[in-house]
Amino acid sequence: MPTAPGRAARPDVLRPARALARWSLRHGLPAAHLRRAARRGDPVARLLRDPAVRADPRAVHEQVRSRGPLADSALGPVTAAHAVAAEVLRSDRFGVGFDWSRLPRPARRLLAFGDDPAVTGVAEPPSMLVVDPPDHTRYRRLVSGAFTPRAVAAAEDRVRRTADRLLDRLEAEARRGGDVDLVAAYAAPLPVLVIADLLAVPADRVDDFLHWGAAAAATLDPGLPPRRFLAGDRALRELHGFLEAHFERLRRDPGDDLVSSLVAARDADALTDRELHAIAMLLLGAGFETTVNLLGNAVVLLDAHRDQWEGLAAEPERWPDAVEEVLRHDSPVQITGRTARVETELAGRRLQPGDRVTVLLGAANRDPAVFADPDRFDVTRADARAHLAFSAGPHYCVGAGLARLEGVVGLRALTERFPGLRVAGRPERRDLVTLRGVEHLPVRLR
Ligand code: HEM
Repeated sequence: MPTAPGRAARPDVLRPARALARWSLRHGLPAAHLRRAARRGDPVARLLRDPAVRADPRAVHEQVRSRGPLADSALGPVTAAHAVAAEVLRSDRFGVGFDWSRLPRPARRLLAFGDDPAVTGVAEPPSMLVVDPPDHTRYRRLVSGAFTPRAVAAAEDRVRRTADRLLDRLEAEARRGGDVDLVAAYAAPLPVLVIADLLAVPADRVDDFLHWGAAAAATLDPGLPPRRFLAGDRALRELHGFLEAHFERLRRDPGDDLVSSLVAARDADALTDRELHAIAMLLLGAGFETTVNLLGNAVVLLDAHRDQWEGLAAEPERWPDAVEEVLRHDSPVQITGRTARVETELAGRRLQPGDRVTVLLGAANRDPAVFADPDRFDVTRADARAHLAFSAGPHYCVGAGLARLEGVVGLRALTERFPGLRVAGRPERRDLVTLRGVEHLPVRLR
């Protein structure tokens, strides 16, 4: 931010203290509560606290399911049932907004990034993910035009060209011999380059985006240790600094991209600065932090089910079904939640306004009431598309069409270029709760 001539910028000496206070409200207190509950054996607390449980969450999901369609947990009511999850996500009796008015005013200000108008978090208002209508409807209207089926179809060539460019580099790597980390070399850069293109941000910042995105993704999780929370906080500030300059560039030289249209909406007072920042940040982050997991999870699953890999090579028109099955079986977004807006009934239970329901998307996508033999990975499954991996209702993923396209084009191109690709070591899982994916995936290309 430029400083008026003759006046030195005053360092914000209270910023670290405010960040720590925010950490204790958002993470420290919940972490202590979850730790105690995990020790008592609470399945949701164990899922949230223990990476080994998350690596294979089937037993915990079953434990929740066995307690009924809406079970009690350390986080309050929780569901692993597909029908209840779909009802909660679609019903206007539930919203995404946490009832901030329940908190004292100073706590509200701390949680909403203090007074800084240009810095917002992924899970704090006005992030679209946690805002209800009418504001949410206004945001969706401004972005949805860029993700219509027509707009997505028009992006197909660009996605393919980007994938081919990355695969050329991988091929050169393969000639040198040795193993390659497929996440670093392909699964992560592909969606970053695609979303950067869509938002007209320079592709040479890819490494920065990956860094900011990973740190921001972690801030979705409850009970983060202070070091990771503060790293996320710093990364978000850097990202917003970058966005500020990006908006200015597009203000001077607008294009026909989504961010130029959002900047124009800001200048026509259809958005505030804070809303502009929140929308652009979410599009950028959500645009790749999830799709990288789809690509990585797919390669792990297909490598473990080689017959299905071979089947897709023989019948590539089946890739769209395979992508749906990966989304169902290993959902990149595992958890979300909703807040009751009114007194209401859910799965036979009475809920009060403000009550929070945790939705285990990954478990709902393995609900035996909907999917036969749900733990079996089967790309020929006819009803895989009934999954809730993109959520449902008003917050249904804006980028679902683009993500599906990247999955189909990216995986098909990879497996056609390297039909003999094999996973060459133990995939390292991302240490995240909300998102499920691999951090490192060593592969042998030939
Ligand atoms: C495999 C990839 C993806 C998965 C699994 C995924 C999943 C999700 C889920 C589950 C939600 C809703 C969360 C909730 O209901 O609480 C969501 C929302 C969202 N996603 Fe995606 N997503 C993916 C890719 C993308 C891409 C490529 C974009 C591109 C910009 C994107 C942009 C968004 C946005 C902006 C929202 C907020 C929508 C709203 O709150 O109204 N996502 N996504």
